[in-house]
Amino acid sequence: MRRKLVVGNWKMHGTLASNAELLGGVRAAEPFVCEAAVCVPFPYLASCVLALQGSHIGLGAQDCSAHEQGAYTGEVSATMLHDVGCRYVIVGHSERRAYHGESDQLVADKAKIVVNKGMIPIVCVGETLAEREAGQTDAVVKRQLSAVIHTLGHCVPQIVVAYEPVWAIGTGKTASPEQAQEVHALLRAQLQAATSHADSMKILYGGSVKPDNAATLFAQPDIDGGLIGGASLKAADFIAICRAAL
Ligand code: G3P
Repeated sequence: MRRKLVVGNWKMHGTLASNAELLGGVRAAEPFVCEAAVCVPFPYLASCVLALQGSHIGLGAQDCSAHEQGAYTGEVSATMLHDVGCRYVIVGHSERRAYHGESDQLVADKAKIVVNKGMIPIVCVGETLAEREAGQTDAVVKRQLSAVIHTLGHCVPQIVVAYEPVWAIGTGKTASPEQAQEVHALLRAQLQAATSHADSMKILYGGSVKPDNAATLFAQPDIDGGLIGGASLKAADFIAICRAAL
């Protein structure tokens, strides 16, 4: 039995004041049956560590450098993220693959350095609408995950996978539970071929998860929780989604 995990991806949203209010509201609803975490913009990591003190809600970042350290202006290392208290790091989000040209191998390299620094990479995979309509969904997500499997080797069990169909992100067009489960089962089979620990690994779904669809999504056998964007910015919605993750 895998304990569900619900992770809020705040993306580029928040202020010191709104973050404090949001986290205060979510904390007031603890404890949750599921594991919960929030991945916040870099500038707010330190203040969110303080806001989460004494809470079971984990802290994460939304990206990291693939480099250890050095002359990489503007980048943030996995060492720094661990140093300030991060437990998770999202890598390979479709918005970074699209807007920053992140390759499958770069994402895999980021996942590896996150594991090496003692944190949990949340590795995002997912197809675009054009790829789905062209019947390429399976090939795309398998290719994206394959780079991670080959790069991490025996460390694969330390990752969390997030299936995020690009066409469902921020659109309100959530994948149906059946559509999501079909891809999750494919990813689970791919992980089973790579490691004997696949059945204990978490595969999250992301893409317009809301309070009114979370329970049916999370009831699917290979959906182990969610990676939540817009709904994670509202305490009541994020709480409702966490409470749906039983
Ligand atoms: O990383 C999660 C995000 O991509 C999903 O966004 O707003 O569709 O829940 P949203």
